Amino acid sequence: PTEIKRICCIGAGYVGGPTMAMIAHKCPQIDVTVVDINPQRIAQWNSDELPIYEPGLDEIVKEARGRNLSFSTNVDQGIDQAEMVFISVNTPTKTFGVGAGRAANLEYVEKCARQIARVSTGHKIVVEKSTLPVRTAEAVKRILSSGETKASFQVLSNPEFLAEGTAIDDLLAPDRVLIGGECANAIESLVNIYANWVPRERLLTTNLWSSELSKLTANAFLAQRVSSINAISALCEATEADVDEVARAIGTDSRIGPKFLKSSVGFGGSCFQKDILNLVYLCEYFGLPEVANYWEQVVAMNDYQKRRFVTRILRTMFNTVSDKKIGIWGFAFKKDTNDTRESAAIYVCRDLLLEKARLDIYDPKVPQDQIKRDLMWALTDQGAMSSEQAQAAIEENVRFADGCLPSATDAHAIAVLTEWDEFADVDFQAVHQVMKKPAFVFDGRNVLKDMDLRQLGFDYYGIGF
Ligand code: NAD
Ligand code: UDX
Repeated sequence: PTEIKRICCIGAGYVGGPTMAMIAHKCPQIDVTVVDINPQRIAQWNSDELPIYEPGLDEIVKEARGRNLSFSTNVDQGIDQAEMVFISVNTPTKTFGVGAGRAANLEYVEKCARQIARVSTGHKIVVEKSTLPVRTAEAVKRILSSGETKASFQVLSNPEFLAEGTAIDDLLAPDRVLIGGECANAIESLVNIYANWVPRERLLTTNLWSSELSKLTANAFLAQRVSSINAISALCEATEADVDEVARAIGTDSRIGPKFLKSSVGFGGSCFQKDILNLVYLCEYFGLPEVANYWEQVVAMNDYQKRRFVTRILRTMFNTVSDKKIGIWGFAFKKDTNDTRESAAIYVCRDLLLEKARLDIYDPKVPQDQIKRDLMWALTDQGAMSSEQAQAAIEENVRFADGCLPSATDAHAIAVLTEWDEFADVDFQAVHQVMKKPAFVFDGRNVLKDMDLRQLGFDYYGIGF
């Protein structure tokens, strides 16, 4: 196998940044350059204020940066100098044309492949790190070998399984690293990099297509667990069963297992919905409508769960929230990240704004501008409002608080949308005092369940009880 001394990663996002920082941290003998077309993002990676919040990331980046880790906008140079090039660009759901709303948009991946083909000389290993539809490597190989390229290539699939908020722990001790390929030497080159810190038995090698498909499948299975328990949460609310008790009872069955059974206001994040829809599209493409319908239900159940939460707020608050202030606690799609992509909070806040509620939003890590952009998008999506109407609605009815107590002050209700640890440390007696009565709390994460809020005088509602 080629001994890799220089790596280039195209895409300095939530995956490219942390994974490459970890390789640089664990492999001081390898020079790692992360490149991106977004100059702002690169400037942030080179500053004290990294573009993404992830516990433990700062230390690792600051330790390796300037030694064997660098961030640059010079994509050509990065590719040219490396023996191994990772493609870690975004692969969002297509919003136009054939497969709109389902298929993955592979425009950015294809552009990377073309650029690699154009710039490269000699031999390079190209690694798909982005999550891609099964058989994408076929297209990547064709693009790399077409035209007048002076180089030869091997393509590997090495999907990333880190979860945001725990990226560093996940990268330090992964359950497994998956490497798919066709050439034993190329596979071994990448295995040798991970073997610097990951035990060999956790380095799984497969054929290219199994590797590509395993990533979509893993996310579909994980999301399916959340939708399954969320489906049961609706039944619990109708029957006085308690979904957390049910989750505990079934999770102790070793065949089911305890993880990923936390009922919530709905899963979010940039991956689950996108990857399931991609899987659904692939099944349709390959003529398997029954399989497509089966997986599509996981997304449908998630949409239902988000709508159901707002309906419960509305019904409980005497069927109107118009001109009522609602304190929104948390906007990120889960704790310990500043990422809001597909966060359930976006949809809950949109629906509350459409009911003319006044929102006072507090999130410890998400910038206000990001929240405004998300709400603008949601309110104008599918023509629900014009841009001017959405702008006016946000200006009139959205405020930002710098803590839980200010967000609750004079509020008719609080809606907890992210499970930030600090919410459990709040002085709820003080919160009760500053709220309008009855003081409603809708806990979309069941994080305040043990706080005896009902005894403190709150009207407390969670998910699935
Ligand atoms: P991201 O949007 O945070 O980052 C992608 C970056 O790629 C952006 O900074 C963008 O500017 C850059 N880029 C796009 N086209 C480029 C080009 N032609 N040249 C150079 N840079 C370019 O995305 P992400 O969250 O890091 O996800 C990347 C991939 O990894 C996706 O396929 C995603 O499905 C997958 N993935 C994400 C996660 C996660 O938790 N976010 C986990 C596992 C896998
Ligand atoms: C996910 C996969 O876990 C990861 O392996 C993959 O690489 C990328 O996609 P991520 O989206 O970052 O990671 O976070 P994850 O922890 O999976 O949570 C996704 C969503 O599901 C969050 O909104 C979370 O709050 C929700 N969730 C998760 C639940 O509602 N209940 C659970 O039990 C678990």
